[in-house]
Amino acid sequence: MSTIGTDIAKAGEYLRQGEVVAIPTETVYGLAANALNPAAVANIFEAKNRPTFDPLILHVPSLAAASDYVTEISETAKLLADAFWPGPLTLLLPKKTLIPDLVTAGLPTVAVRVPAHPLTLALLNALDFPLAAPSANPFGYISPTTPQHVAAQLGSRVPYILDGGPCQIGIESTIISLEGNRPTVLRLGGLSVEAIEAVIGPVVSTLHSSSNPLAPGMLNSHYAPGKPLYLIDEPGIQGVLPEPDVAYLLFARRKGQAAAPNRFFLSESGDFKEAAQRLFGTLRQLDAGPWREIRAELLPERDLGRAINDRLRRAAHRENEPQP
Ligand code: TXA
Ligand code: MG
Repeated sequence: MSTIGTDIAKAGEYLRQGEVVAIPTETVYGLAANALNPAAVANIFEAKNRPTFDPLILHVPSLAAASDYVTEISETAKLLADAFWPGPLTLLLPKKTLIPDLVTAGLPTVAVRVPAHPLTLALLNALDFPLAAPSANPFGYISPTTPQHVAAQLGSRVPYILDGGPCQIGIESTIISLEGNRPTVLRLGGLSVEAIEAVIGPVVSTLHSSSNPLAPGMLNSHYAPGKPLYLIDEPGIQGVLPEPDVAYLLFARRKGQAAAPNRFFLSESGDFKEAAQRLFGTLRQLDAGPWREIRAELLPERDLGRAINDRLRRAAHRENEPQP
């Protein structure tokens, strides 16, 4: 079983030996290994049961450190990094050859970000290599936002979990590609498209590439709980009395909406940030609860609502299964 603690030196020891360590970030917990050591990186794929065509994110302590691993940082990339690093933004940049192909699944670009968590930044600063880290969950399952989430699924696979408390953002980073004419959002995440556009102007979104192995984070079925999750339309929620063996996951409490043991709100007050923070933990709670299925409503399509909806849609995806 894994040890949970705050010992950066111990985490560093494991990592230097080529082992995996779970690390806190502001988005979700990551399963980290020495990105420059292919054998260490292979341990990540094995622990997660992740297909090797799905590339990993490189975590570095600063923009300056990033330049050691990429051949070029464009003006647009610099603008974004200056505005949002450390933070929930991942940039695709042309990789140097010292980054193993296993990290990038053979792609010429590497995904890079500077995570905004003091423990992990201290760890990165203490190491002389960057950390490759996907989310610390079995492939396809709900991402972890506490050390306990990591231990529950990967406890037998990870010797050490660095405890940074619950994640402040709660959903993964926004991934943006700077190849081509226009910056392109490949994954909606903890940094809103509106915030990005305020810095660099209009961006394109390519989010429905379900079967596109170049962007596997966009796989249709992802972030999925074990029991069926169905999306419901807003109008049905207030009028119909919920079935007791179904859990209802709603965004905000509507005026006069009665409390019920099977009715859950991501944010009583309708705050996007709080909803994002609570999303994965609540999904886990409902997955473990006594309900036969989960019915979730979508949020307004703006700000972090878009990224949350993206997660809910992928969690709900059940091909060839009847919808209620
Ligand atoms: O917030 C986050 O991004 C978290 C924390 C731990 O940093 N990490 C995370 O990693 O969500 P992961 O592996 O679950 O998702 C990374 C996504 C993958 O879906 C992968 O397809 C995409 O990034 N990706 C990585 N490198 C890429 C590349 N060169 N081109 C296109 N997509 C890439
Ligand atoms: Mg993931």
